[in-house]
Amino acid sequence: MTTASPATALTDTVLYEERGGVALITIANPPVNGLGDMVRRGLADGMARAAAGAAVRAVVLQGAGKLFCGGADIRQFNTPAATAQPMLREVNRTIERAVKPVVACIHGVALGGGLELALACHYRIADAAAQLGLPEVNLGLVPGGGGTQRLPRLIGAPAALKFITSGKPVDARQALALGLVDAVIDGEREAAAIAFALDKADSAAHPVLADKPPAAMSAAEMKAQREALNPKARNATAQRTAVDCVQAATELEFEAGLDRERALFDGLVAGQPSKALRHLFFAEKEATKFSSTTARAIRSVAILGAGTMGGGIAMAFANAGYGVVLCEREQAALDRGLALVRRNYEISAAKGVLSAAEVEARLARIQPTLDMAAFADADLVIEAVFEDMAVKRAVFAQLDRICKSGAILATNTSRLNIDEIAAVTQRPQDVIGLHFFSPAHVMKLLEVVRGARTSDEVIAGCMRMAAAIAKIPVLVGVCEGFVGNRMLTGYWREAGFLLEEGATPAQIDAAMQGFGFAMGPLAMADLAGMDINWATRKRLAPTRPKHLRYSQVADRICEQGRFGQKTGAGYYRYEAGSRTPIPDPVVDGVIADCAREAGITRRAVSDEEIAERCVLALVNEGARIVAEGIAQRASDVDVVYVNGYGFPAWRGGPMFHARSLGWKQVLQKLQALHAQHGEHWVPAPWIVQQAGQA
Ligand code: 3HC
Ligand code: NAI
Repeated sequence: MTTASPATALTDTVLYEERGGVALITIANPPVNGLGDMVRRGLADGMARAAAGAAVRAVVLQGAGKLFCGGADIRQFNTPAATAQPMLREVNRTIERAVKPVVACIHGVALGGGLELALACHYRIADAAAQLGLPEVNLGLVPGGGGTQRLPRLIGAPAALKFITSGKPVDARQALALGLVDAVIDGEREAAAIAFALDKADSAAHPVLADKPPAAMSAAEMKAQREALNPKARNATAQRTAVDCVQAATELEFEAGLDRERALFDGLVAGQPSKALRHLFFAEKEATKFSSTTARAIRSVAILGAGTMGGGIAMAFANAGYGVVLCEREQAALDRGLALVRRNYEISAAKGVLSAAEVEARLARIQPTLDMAAFADADLVIEAVFEDMAVKRAVFAQLDRICKSGAILATNTSRLNIDEIAAVTQRPQDVIGLHFFSPAHVMKLLEVVRGARTSDEVIAGCMRMAAAIAKIPVLVGVCEGFVGNRMLTGYWREAGFLLEEGATPAQIDAAMQGFGFAMGPLAMADLAGMDINWATRKRLAPTRPKHLRYSQVADRICEQGRFGQKTGAGYYRYEAGSRTPIPDPVVDGVIADCAREAGITRRAVSDEEIAERCVLALVNEGARIVAEGIAQRASDVDVVYVNGYGFPAWRGGPMFHARSLGWKQVLQKLQALHAQHGEHWVPAPWIVQQAGQA
């Protein structure tokens, strides 16, 4: 006989229903069924009711909506709700100790605490399309709901360790192969779960991972996995801690292992790196948001210029399955560009990332041409020719004649004014900046630059396109250098001043790497090509206030034909075929000359001063950018700097870093720098305001 009770709400976020001898406990906490305090309480109540229910023979735990559970509610971390009783540990213990079998029925995703909840269940079944993972390390954390202790007992410590440190989810079939789930369901989910649960109802005992002895793993393998971690990864601390947790699972009894996991989790959750990574998690989601009733559809793409950027952008689209028309002005340049694209793909194939067939498939999506007439049907055209206003304007006038009505005309310019480019067309509403970063097929950041007349529909289309090619878009306004490059001006300015005051290029770069940057500012200038900034400085020279201090160092280096790595010399010199910067006495001489001419007595400069001045220069300019509305929000500046400029993710970006220092303290430092070094350091009014509110 089938009995059914209507679903009742145990809390606002957990539903309870009895059907045919099975209690269905459903997490209904949109958007991701996060395990907030109310959900935990609802789960505990549901388990109590199922235990007491005379007709209940088994329990199915599931998620409402499109997923099982996205894990702990990250927004509650560092608030009292995160530690409100019952904690996930208690909920899991209740489930594990239940006499009646508990089956987790997973669909959509089971991530983090969600998967840990499933691990406490006696059985797990998963929809064929489900994804299961422990992504906590991506947030600078370790699983804190028993995952590091149960998973090694389920799938073995070596596999568990890889699973936890990678933070990457697996699909249901992989989960089955790993032993993470007991069955994969292809048909109707709930019915399958009920049948599975009833089938287990008469078993004398159900598997309880907590009852298993510590997992086995040799010391040698533990050491090997520890050493295989990348110490420069943005979540290196969390990954190391995950190894400590799994080691505990191999050495300690279950409850002691849980204590160890919790202590380590608590340390990480209270620490700055995890706070920064969690800030970035939300900041990156926020940055992609743009509301518009319509979005221009982009199905076909054309790119003009097959140089460094054009080739990389073509790869980014081809990788995502788009057909791309790639146009050059002459055969030799086209051949060079395509050869580089092929080489890049072949390097990926050699590393085992791509199959030979996939290389050919991606190359086949790129259709080379010397004739811009091939752009006539493209939905989106991206111009990536030389950084020269006259050249860009001539090209856009041509595009305006050739491209179909409704096509989006985009420029990849790094610094030029989009509105001046749009002005040569009859359709400024369709013109936009799409500022990719080099190498464009690798770098995640995309500055989407809205011109004064760019339509919302075009912006929305580009924001959506960015997601489709796995980029993180940040919407920015028109100004010299937009967000990222504009901030570099002050950053490089301070580096130049510090050189004159007594630092060496190697010291500056080492100090910034010590702060956590992937690369120092001067090595970065050598990599990007010093000629580009030199041209910008020359272009802007007429508008530069003459009374302000100006370092001649970069210009003098360029005057010697030293443009960085591409000429074998810049701030450093480079051996043929090598990218390793070698300090060069010639540059020391240039610096000493510039300092002498500027009347500066050189002194010992500390690493702390270097880091402070370079970073605060970024912060002060970032604040102006926010106040001017060039960036929509301070966190967008962080997204730009972390994803495009090598700012350490574990510091959360320049604005989050400053906020963490405290705006009052930041203001005091800026005021001190202003008093000592003058007008460049006038504190941004936005910071004065933040400090006032603090
Ligand atoms: N806590 C709080 N909010 C969350 C969240 C979480 N765990 N996961 C997602 N959200 C929010 C997002 O910020 C977004 O909010 P918004 O609408 O206000 O912008 C909303 O939920 C929807 O998120 P997405 O846009 O990302 O939705 P998708 O459907 O594209 O993706 C997802 C869903 C795969 C679950 C994805 O959101 C995700 O990967 N979330 C993070 C998962 C995670 O890291 N879990 C581990 C948490 S830590 C933990 O569990 C600790 C435990 O060990 C104790
Ligand atoms: P590049 O010099 O490597 O390539 C430019 C290519 O455009 C050359 O192959 C050239 O033959 C071609 N070209 C010039 N005029 C053309 C025309 N009328 N029709 C067809 N092709 C033409 O330059 P790069 O570095 O790729 O830069 C391109 C644009 O991207 C510039 O606006 C630059 O500021 C911007 N950019 C560059 C970045 C970088 O790191 N190199 C980063 C982000 C943006």
